[in-house]
This record gives sequence, C-alpha cells and structure tokens, in this order.
Amino acid sequence: MKSVIDILDLTTEEIDDLINIAKDIMAHPEYFKEQCRGKKIATLFFEPSTRTRLSFEAAMYELGGDVLSVSGANSSAAKGESVYDTAKIMSFYADIIAMRHYKEGAALRLARNASVPVINAGDGGHCHPTQTLADLCTISLKKGGFDNLTVGLCGDLKYGRTVHSLINALSRYKNIKFLLISPSELALPDYEKAVIEKSGMLYEQTDNLENALPELDVLYMTRIQRERFDDISEYERLKDSYVLNAEKMKSAKKDCIVLHPLPRVNEISTDFDNDPRALYFEQANNGKYMRMALILKLLFGNMQEKEIEYIKDKVCDNPRCITSCEQEVEQLFLMNDDGKTCRCAYCEKEQKI
Ligand code: NCD
Repeated sequence: MKSVIDILDLTTEEIDDLINIAKDIMAHPEYFKEQCRGKKIATLFFEPSTRTRLSFEAAMYELGGDVLSVSGANSSAAKGESVYDTAKIMSFYADIIAMRHYKEGAALRLARNASVPVINAGDGGHCHPTQTLADLCTISLKKGGFDNLTVGLCGDLKYGRTVHSLINALSRYKNIKFLLISPSELALPDYEKAVIEKSGMLYEQTDNLENALPELDVLYMTRIQRERFDDISEYERLKDSYVLNAEKMKSAKKDCIVLHPLPRVNEISTDFDNDPRALYFEQANNGKYMRMALILKLLFGNMQEKEIEYIKDKVCDNPRCITSCEQEVEQLFLMNDDGKTCRCAYCEKEQKI
C-alpha cells in the first residue's frame, strides 16, 4: 500500500501516467463516473483550505465515491487528539485519507500508522505534493513537457510548501534553470537548494522580479505565508514585496505562463486575469483531475511502496515538526549524500551524524 507524502514518492513514470489519466478523465468523464462506487475518502483539514479540500471532495464525488470530512475547530484534534490516534480511527472509516496539518511531517506520521493510503494535502511549511501535480499538469499541457525551461519562483520561498514540492519534482527533469525571486528573509531553505544542486541544474537568487521576467518560460507566484511568521510586524513589512500586473507582464515572453497555487492576496493584479498567459484558474481545475487520477491509482493501481532505511538514534529539535508534539513518536532520520549529515524524515531539518 502506497501513500503520497512527498512528490518524490512518485516516480517520473508515475507522474506521466497520472497526467495521462487526468487527460483521459477530462476527455471522457462518463467513463470514470462509477469507478469509486462504494469507496470513501476522509478529508481531514486542520488548517484553512478551500480549493484543496473541495477539489479532493469533488474528485471523489465525480468518481462515484463518498466523502467523510472534518475540519479544524470541529475536529477532536482541537481537543488535543494525536495524529497517531486519528490514523488508527480513520483507517476503520475510510478507504483513503487526504490530510492537511499545521505541523511539518504530520502526513508521514499519519501514513506510518494508518492501514489505508494517505495523501499529504499540505504539512506546515514543508510540502504539498498534490498542488505540484496540478502545477505539473498545467505546465505539461501548455509547454508539452518540462525539459529546458527557465522557471521563476517568486514570493515566499521559505515557507511556501508548494514551491518546495515543485522544485523536488522539476529537479528530476533535464536542464531546467530556476530563478529564485524573494526578499532575502524569505529565501529558499538550504535543504531545497541542495535538491537543485544535486540535480546539477542551475539557479540564481534575486530579489528583483522585473529584471528576471524577460527570461522566464514559467512564472510561479506565491503568497507570503502570514500564518508561518512568528513576528507579525515582519509579515507586514514583507507582504507586498511583489505585485505582478498587466503592465509588468509586457516585458515577459509572449508564451511565458503564470501560475499561482492560490489563494492570492495581492501578488497578482486582477488586470492580468484575462491575459491568455494567466493560468492560475485553469491550474486549480487541473488539480481536481490530477486528484481524481491519484485517487484511482492509489486505490486500484498496485503502486509499489519504496523501501527506506532510517536512522533511529537521533532526536529532531525542530519545534515546527510533528515530533515536537506527539507522544512517543518514532524518530526517523535519513542519511544525506555527504555521509556526514542526516535529516529528519518528517520535516527534513538537518543535523550532524
Ligand atoms: C497553497 C497552500 O495551502 O500551501 N494553497 C493551496 O493549496 N492551493 C498555497 C497558499 O496557501 O499560499
């Protein structure tokens, strides 16, 4: 039984396959409308969400299945229930679980204790693999593939989990150049830079969107993640760092596509929405089809789980990690390629061996 916690849990072949299934569903929805009859998805959302939760639910309904749903304040998590107990209970009620949680690594904790497939719908500032499936589907439909693209990632690269998952995914293709556009305070974490470096691809860091624009094939705008700031005055200072609009897009390529995982706050002016390069609404629609494809593959696709060797004698010290608040959590670390450091399997915080 396989779960999808990180986009790297899917091989590039599996991602291609999901894109093909999604295209098939778009073309022949009738054929798929009974395929999940009798199956239930539990959508557990302990952080705000509109698109992600409802797109999972719409996906399951359009496959003929049913939905069990709970969110934040209405859940027993609000009374202090652990992810461990949630995993045990939900495995009785549902055939598959999609969970969003404010702690990094919560989805891995759930998956290791559930007996049904788990999909990570966002774990704190860590990752968000199904948003990446929506992003990849949109890029694939418009660009015909992923190789040789110059991709600008703009906004909150520190806490933006969608950016982290997208980099992990794109780093497996060929000759992609990343332009990392952010204020220095919100720069990409080192563990994500290491992913790009390991892939042998190039990246440049800048805080200037206007200068970067003419070079880009894809521009991925993101929201400054207010909820992750410890100091709200810091958020106030940085929140309007980038505002893309129709005027600025005059200097971009005619076929530069603009993506955004949404919700947008101020990052893209509505005066750009009718430009054919503005793909963020289409991207959200593609997300539903990719989630349908993923549900089908996880329930019926015989996907293989990867064998992973963990180091178990370390303790994670990241207060944002699920290991900081669950009782008797199993500490799990993964060896880094340098052989001298390892990283927490839940949140990826590094430490020395
Ligand atoms: C993103 C998220 O939750 O990380 N939204 C989404 O799932 N579409 C991006 C964001 O909240 O800024």
